[in-house]
Amino acid sequence: MIEVTRVYDFKNGINNLALKKSGEKIRNGKLVIFPTETVYGIGANALDSKAVDDIFIAKGRANDNPLIVHVSDFAMIKDLVEEPNTMEKKLLDAFMPGPFTLILKKKDIIPNNVSANLDTVGIRMPSNKIAHDLIEAAGVPIAAPSANVSSRPSGTQVEDIIDEFQDKVDIIIDGGKTNIGIESTVVKVIDDIPTILRPGKITPEDIMAVVGVCKLSDNLFKKVDGVVESPGMKYKHYAPKSKCLLVYSDNDEEMLNIIKQNIMEKTLIIGCDEHAYSYDCYKYLNYGKKLDYDAISHNIFAYLRQADKYDPDLIIIEGVKKEGIGIAIMNRLIRAAGYNYIEK
Ligand code: TXA
Ligand code: MG
Repeated sequence: MIEVTRVYDFKNGINNLALKKSGEKIRNGKLVIFPTETVYGIGANALDSKAVDDIFIAKGRANDNPLIVHVSDFAMIKDLVEEPNTMEKKLLDAFMPGPFTLILKKKDIIPNNVSANLDTVGIRMPSNKIAHDLIEAAGVPIAAPSANVSSRPSGTQVEDIIDEFQDKVDIIIDGGKTNIGIESTVVKVIDDIPTILRPGKITPEDIMAVVGVCKLSDNLFKKVDGVVESPGMKYKHYAPKSKCLLVYSDNDEEMLNIIKQNIMEKTLIIGCDEHAYSYDCYKYLNYGKKLDYDAISHNIFAYLRQADKYDPDLIIIEGVKKEGIGIAIMNRLIRAAGYNYIEK
C-alpha cells in the first residue's frame, strides 16, 4: 500500500540521500518513476516478478507486451542474457550507453512476466546520469516501460504524468523534460541482420555506419495484429483523447491544402514553425522548425497531451518525411492518430 507518492526534484542536480532511498525502494520491490534520455520510465526490480506485476497493473498494460531491462554497465548484462554473437557485440559496443535497446536471448534469472514468456529480453543502458545512478544505487537491473498509462503518449515531463501515477508509485524523480523525447530504438539481430523493431534516435544510417547492414521491420507504419516480432507494435499507443488526423506530403502546398480542407469548427493543429500562421484554426501548437527533427521529437509527446487540454473536436498533425529520426516520429504519429493518415 502506498500512502503518498514522493516527488524528488533532481532538476538542478542529484540529491544523494534521495537517490539512495530510491534505489532501496527499487531493491525492495517498490515502483519508482525516473527520467532517461528518451522518456520517463516506471521502474521496478527486474528480478522481482511481484514488483514487475505491479508495473503492469499501474500502467494497465497487456501482459503479453514485454518490458525492457535497464542496466548501468556491461557487467550487469552478463548475468541476464546468453553470450551475444559478433554482430550483437558490435551493436552493444557502438550504441550503449544510449537510446538503444537490443533484444537478446534471456537467461532464466529474468522472470517470465518481464519478457512476456518470450525467450528474449530487451536490454538498455541509459546514458542519462539520473537513470544510470539510480540503477547503480538499486544494485539490480530495472525493468521499466515508458511512464504512461497504456495507450497514452509516453511521459517526457513529470507534469504530464503525475496525475496518472499519483499514489500508484512510491517515488517520482523529476529530472526535467527529457532530452530526446521519443523512446529508444529497439533492435533485434535476425539472421545476422540488425532489424529495427521500433525506430528512434539511433537511425538505420547510424547502424549501417557501424555494421554495414540494417533492416526496418515491415510493420512500422501499418496496423498489425496476431504474432508480431515485437508485441508493442500491435497496441494502441501515444493517443490523445481527441480524434486525430495525420497529414503529410513532400509538397508543402499540397499538405497545407489537405489540412485546410479538413479543418472543422474546433480544430487544433500541431505543426511546424513555418506554418504557424498559415491556417484559420482554433489553436496552433508549434512543434519546431520543419526539418528540425530533434526539436520535433523532443516536443511531440508533450504536445499530444497538451492538445487534449484545449478539448478540440479534431487534432490535425503535420507529418514529416520518413528519413533519419523522421522515421521514428512518423511511427509514433501514425499510431497516435489511430492510423487516420493522409499521405500524398
Ligand atoms: O526509451 C525507452 O525504451 C523507454 C525508456 C523508459 O527506457 N522504455 C520503453 O519501454 O519505451 P516500453 O515498454 O514502453 O516499450 C518497449 C518496447 C515495446 O514495444 C515492446 O513490445 C518491445 O519494446 N519489446 C520489449 N521486449 C521485447 C522482446 N523481447 N522482443 C521484442 N520486442 C520487445
Ligand atoms: Mg511505451
